[in-house]
Amino acid sequence: DQGDILKEGTLPAEGARRVRRKSVKGLLAESFPARLLAIFRNLGNLADEMNCGIFLVGGVVRDLLLRRPNLDVDIVVEGDGIALARAYARRFGGRCHGHEPFRTAVLMVDDYKLDIASTRLEYYDAPASLPKVEQSSLKVDLYRRDFTINTMVVSLNSRTYGELRDYFGAGRDLKERSIRALHNLSFVEDPTRIFRAIRFEQKFNFTIGRQTLHLIHNAVKIGFLRRLSGSRILNEIKLICAESDPLPIFARMSELKLWREIFPGLRRRPDAAALTGRLQGVKEVVTWYEYLYLEKRVESWRVYFLAFLDGLQADQAAYCVERLGFDKNLGRAFIKARHRGIEVAAELGRGYRNGRNLKPSRLVELLAELPLEVLLYIMAGHENETVKKAISNYLTRLQFVSIDISGHDLVGLGLKPGPLFKRVLDEVRKARLDGLVGSRDEELELARRRARELAEPVPSRPGEKE
Ligand code: CTP
Repeated sequence: DQGDILKEGTLPAEGARRVRRKSVKGLLAESFPARLLAIFRNLGNLADEMNCGIFLVGGVVRDLLLRRPNLDVDIVVEGDGIALARAYARRFGGRCHGHEPFRTAVLMVDDYKLDIASTRLEYYDAPASLPKVEQSSLKVDLYRRDFTINTMVVSLNSRTYGELRDYFGAGRDLKERSIRALHNLSFVEDPTRIFRAIRFEQKFNFTIGRQTLHLIHNAVKIGFLRRLSGSRILNEIKLICAESDPLPIFARMSELKLWREIFPGLRRRPDAAALTGRLQGVKEVVTWYEYLYLEKRVESWRVYFLAFLDGLQADQAAYCVERLGFDKNLGRAFIKARHRGIEVAAELGRGYRNGRNLKPSRLVELLAELPLEVLLYIMAGHENETVKKAISNYLTRLQFVSIDISGHDLVGLGLKPGPLFKRVLDEVRKARLDGLVGSRDEELELARRRARELAEPVPSRPGEKE
């Protein structure tokens, strides 16, 4: 039952009584690499010397308890986090970037990146005095966060190393697998938390608590999502698409009627069942691509977004792009690539109709101009299996086909560098793709012949290109 969600104003008095502590030292030791544990220890000792409290906080603690690997380490320092990070880098090595306005620092040690925040300063107003533990400043900091499960901390100071502190009943929520906001204004203060609630719920297989769900409904009803800037929405969509299975998250978004809040100007919303099918297709193709471990990484959200826009008229697609706050040029480029993708998809459909085949060189010519995300979008949605196979063949093999000769060889043939070079080399590559040449010698031979022909063009016959 979520009826007892913490009410605004209940914070300080109640929490002090309620804080729960237990040691998770063993769990720490088995969850993090030795090198990172050594960094934790050093940070803790340094914080002791500097008279401040230091804690792991947020997602990393939540995931520690859920036994999910997470190396995104967030640390909070009761005191000056920047000074601590700098002192660490000086003594133990590493690089540190401080950001004074927010009193945060990024500490990079080996391959690890630690985000370090500071709680308020009151603590430092009287540096000579004994550090009375300003526990409340840490608590106030935690109370500003999104959900109870993200508010636990683990001490790194040497005397209390590995002590878990739970101020807001997060342990119970973890056990009951529930997502619970800390206070009634949580979603009003930050509507992006609506997306976060759903993302955590689906990803961890939790349930949004009754009262919290009610708060979400209210925030949506009052129109808080509509007021959210496009780029903040897009940021959440990117995070959702980066999850290993975004589909249930999208489904829950539909259930809570969020899409119409995100895109209020859409004349007709995509048919839910068809959309689900398309998104499923995208997920399969994106997963397939990621398993190839190719150098070029896919920005999966773009593929999902293209599938979402499927079938929309150009002006409506442009509206969606604008709503998500794309920069003008990027937006235009995105729409253009989508448009070209639709044309290429149609041409592939014709090229591979009824068992026909496109020449590999023609396939490459068509696909090379399209961004990877558009290729995957076509591959996910095309009704013709042969087209899907052709794109897969392009991505895994054809795009990497190279030739054995280069401009140097053309110079060696006595040719003068110029525009002709590219043309000849392009033709040799096409021939290689189509299996017309198979060795370096054959490539050289073809280059010699074509260079001669192109340099002294024979008048073209009617009906022949050039
Ligand atoms: N946070 C918040 N409201 C937001 C975003 C973040 O209160 N809109 C808080 C959360 O308590 C979170 C912490 O800031 O634990 C760090 O945020 P982030 O790194 O985005 O989240 P994680 O909890 O680490 O989750 P993820 O698994 O997505 O990295």
